[in-house]
Amino acid sequence: MSRFEDKVALVTGAASGIGRATAERLAAEQATVFCSDVNGVGLSETIDGIRKAGGQVTGRTCDISSADACDESVAAAIEEFGKLDVLCNVAGVGIYGHATELTTEQWSSVISVNLSGTFYMSRAALPHLLETEGNIVNVASTAGLVGIAYAAAYCASKGGVVAMTKSMAVEFAHRNVRVNCVCPGGVDTPLARTFKVPEGGRPDLLARMMLVQKVGSPEEIAGAIAYLASEEARYVNGTAFAIDGGQVA
Ligand SMILES: NC(=O)c1ccc[n+]([C@@H]2O[C@H](COP(=O)([O-])OP(=O)(O)OC[C@H]3O[C@@H](n4cnc5c(N)ncnc54)[C@H](O)[C@@H]3O)[C@@H](O)[C@H]2O)c1
Repeated sequence: MSRFEDKVALVTGAASGIGRATAERLAAEQATVFCSDVNGVGLSETIDGIRKAGGQVTGRTCDISSADACDESVAAAIEEFGKLDVLCNVAGVGIYGHATELTTEQWSSVISVNLSGTFYMSRAALPHLLETEGNIVNVASTAGLVGIAYAAAYCASKGGVVAMTKSMAVEFAHRNVRVNCVCPGGVDTPLARTFKVPEGGRPDLLARMMLVQKVGSPEEIAGAIAYLASEEARYVNGTAFAIDGGQVA
């Protein structure tokens, strides 16, 4: 498939996991990709891999919790490629533990990356997406749809991403810019491997996450992101697409 011929896509979180798989998938479908991540080493690996596979790609480091850095990142993509058709907000972090023990710093760091960072990138990209009638795909989580114990900040941040996705979808629909999000369940990435029941916690409270004894792959999530970002999803707007083996059904 080459659904992204002549399209320019910016992917955050491109150094690892779902973000890397998304950058690879879009490039494999002929997109010109601008990769972004706070992790420069992983970012270079992604860029090298895509180049070796014959893809058109560049990128730069960016900490999305900084509004200025997000503005600079989008400006750099525009400077490099002249336009922007797709923004994939994939970067994210997770901190888990008893809500009573979550520090103010931990709360702020999760909200500022997952929620504020997604907003800062979208705000910077939207003027360019309005020009191309492009679209945004955010990566929320099933944690944005249902409660997951020991993940208050993470759930709050992802619930915020779901709500923001819907708000922007309604706001920009009449200008032909779509905004959607995917809500993955468990996906085998470094982030997911950091999740564990805290000391004194009750594993049974996590039963809804264990509906099926399998996890998704980053490539499966990237496939859904690519669909939403493509013209095939022309009529899909404001959706929160769960990819979770039925966890939230
Ligand atoms: N893995 C899962 O089970 C799962 C489930 C649902 C949602 N998600 C979401 O998927 C997204 C991707 O996560 P993943 O599972 O691929 O994990 P990952 O750890 O493999 O990738 C996350 C990437 O985000 C980058 N990042 C972190 N903070 C950043 C910052 N301040 N600025 C820029 N980049 C930053 C990291 O460097 C990393 O490359 C996240 O938003 C995560 O919340 C993951």
